[in-house]
Amino acid sequence: MTEKTTYITTPIYYVNAQPHLGHAYTTVVADTYSRFCRLCGDEVRFQTGTDEHGDKIVEAAAKEHVEPRQYVDNISAMFRDTWPLLNIDYDRFIRTTDEDHIAVVQQILQHVYDAGDIYFDEYSGLYCTGCERFLIERELVDGKCPDHLVAPKEITEQNYFFRMSKYQQQLIDHIRNNPDFITPERYRNEVLSFLSEPLDDLCISRPTSRLDWGIRLPFDENYVTYVWFDALINYLTGIGYPDGENYPRYWAGAEHLIAKDILKPHAIYWPTMLMAAGVPVYKKLHVHGYWNVDETKMSKSLGNVIRPAGLVEEYGVDTFRYFSLREMSFGLDASFSRDAIIARKNADLANDLGNLFSRSVSMIEKYCDSRIPEPAEEETDAELRLASASMLEGYSRNMADFKFHLGLQAVWEFVSEANRYIVRNEPWALVKDTSKKKRLGSVLYNLAESLRLLALVLKPVMPETAEKMIWGLGIDADSEMMKTLEHGGSWGKSVVGTRLNKSENLFPRTEVKKKSNSEKKPQNKKKDKRQQEEPGGDHINFNQFENVELLVARVVEAKKLKKSDRLLKLSLEAPEPRTIVSGIAESYRPEELVGKNVIIVANLKPVKLMGIASEGMVLTAEAEDEQGGKRVNLLTVPGEVKPGTRVA
Ligand code: MSP
Repeated sequence: MTEKTTYITTPIYYVNAQPHLGHAYTTVVADTYSRFCRLCGDEVRFQTGTDEHGDKIVEAAAKEHVEPRQYVDNISAMFRDTWPLLNIDYDRFIRTTDEDHIAVVQQILQHVYDAGDIYFDEYSGLYCTGCERFLIERELVDGKCPDHLVAPKEITEQNYFFRMSKYQQQLIDHIRNNPDFITPERYRNEVLSFLSEPLDDLCISRPTSRLDWGIRLPFDENYVTYVWFDALINYLTGIGYPDGENYPRYWAGAEHLIAKDILKPHAIYWPTMLMAAGVPVYKKLHVHGYWNVDETKMSKSLGNVIRPAGLVEEYGVDTFRYFSLREMSFGLDASFSRDAIIARKNADLANDLGNLFSRSVSMIEKYCDSRIPEPAEEETDAELRLASASMLEGYSRNMADFKFHLGLQAVWEFVSEANRYIVRNEPWALVKDTSKKKRLGSVLYNLAESLRLLALVLKPVMPETAEKMIWGLGIDADSEMMKTLEHGGSWGKSVVGTRLNKSENLFPRTEVKKKSNSEKKPQNKKKDKRQQEEPGGDHINFNQFENVELLVARVVEAKKLKKSDRLLKLSLEAPEPRTIVSGIAESYRPEELVGKNVIIVANLKPVKLMGIASEGMVLTAEAEDEQGGKRVNLLTVPGEVKPGTRVA
């Protein structure tokens, strides 16, 4: 196998805001990809960091009444403190205030200046402080910057300009000749369409009279470098450009990961800067969409900014990592909601993967004295092996192409197949028949092997969970077969006789909180899909049942409704108070209901009945009374059961 080198980078984040869901997503993607490339046997380097110059930072520091230096130190540290919480394993955290970076920026500026691609000129233009750049007329909407919704200021200034226009055709040719240079394709097309108009030169300086917080131009001390010209160069500094040993090793494998907001600087400024500096253009640019929150833009003013530390505390690091990679189709926008993350956790992680693991492991413990049994060659297991091969193929191809949601879909198809394999083979029946001992050995070996393969492919996505699985299976995490897909990614590597370790539940379920009328229920979407995936006639599968939240509720008060003979208004405790209007007035007097423990469907969409919001449904069974009439019997729970207990 030829060893490939990969150098994956995230944007360096501005330190004018604390880390949030958007930063977390990009960084988790880069971390997952870097771990995936290692699993493929590549030599990998992964870099992230902070962008610390420019007027945005000066403004933010002034607001806090601190010097820029102190301000950037504080916020940059917040980013560095956040990444370990998400299990981000980077090789370098670069800051644009680092000494080596300042030196590299000045060196490149001098080189491009000496080559004649930087010139001095007077410029009048419309400057937007939010964008930190001059805008052109056609970018404005109603005279305002479309991103910051303020009219830019007319400024006349003498400045230095980079001859970006000179490289326009070379860039177009490069993009046309390298179809994978910018992906997904929609962003490649967007860049080509922008390049179909003449490209302006780029103003790359700011007079120190206006902005002092930046890297001095090496050829004119009255100016500092425009923040983008400074920031993009971090990708070179971080690998020791020009003389460090990592530069020749990694630069040819450079892959930048960004969101759509910073496409233009990365797809246009950066490659043309590299061309002018005589450095080969980076290998690939991967562009993803934006996370919204509950279908709304995430913003400080709306108070809906999601912080990574909170997410990890609430749902666990691996649930967040899995959710973000599975839920967003790379390249498109996605919406974050608590319901969506809980639904994914309960269905995909607790039910599908968690149950597969705990059922399989506990059967090996019970039936085989905790040791991986000997398999016998059996025709009937071809399906499971084929499913594992198809998972490995789909997973590897899609992860390499930044189609993480499809890679994970391929893994979960295999998880479902392994769960079906248990149901088909009924190990609990095989164990009762001594003539089936060999068969039982095969079935349980195959399950252990399926789990081993799953742990292997899940390592990049959910490193902690994979580690727990590997430990539970009694495998040495440093063994060759758990290091790379090449060594471990084929069927039959589990070693007969390996002793399992006692392992914990992988994913405890998260209870779904009571929903209001306006909240969406993504579970339904998922349920429909599952029904299509598994045509099962009138049967529902376990996940569908689990989506119905049945709770014990205590009746605190019951009242007849004036305008109805049939309806009673029940005030319940489950354990939060809730109201349900139920059609049981003809069968029960209100006073006999108080204190009863009934069973309710807690996650039904609320409806209005006789003007009262009814939040759920009480379970009943209809029966005939002595007179041949209908009587509704409430299902009640005897004994001391706490209100809010889940009925399973
Ligand atoms: N400092 C520049 C980047 C310089 S790179 C040489 C910058 N910083 S930023 O703090 O604004 O980060 C922008 C990046 O953060 C996006 O490209 C994306 O990676 C991430 N995200 C910020 N908000 C996001 C969402 N709402 N959704 C997804 N990712 C987003 O631009």
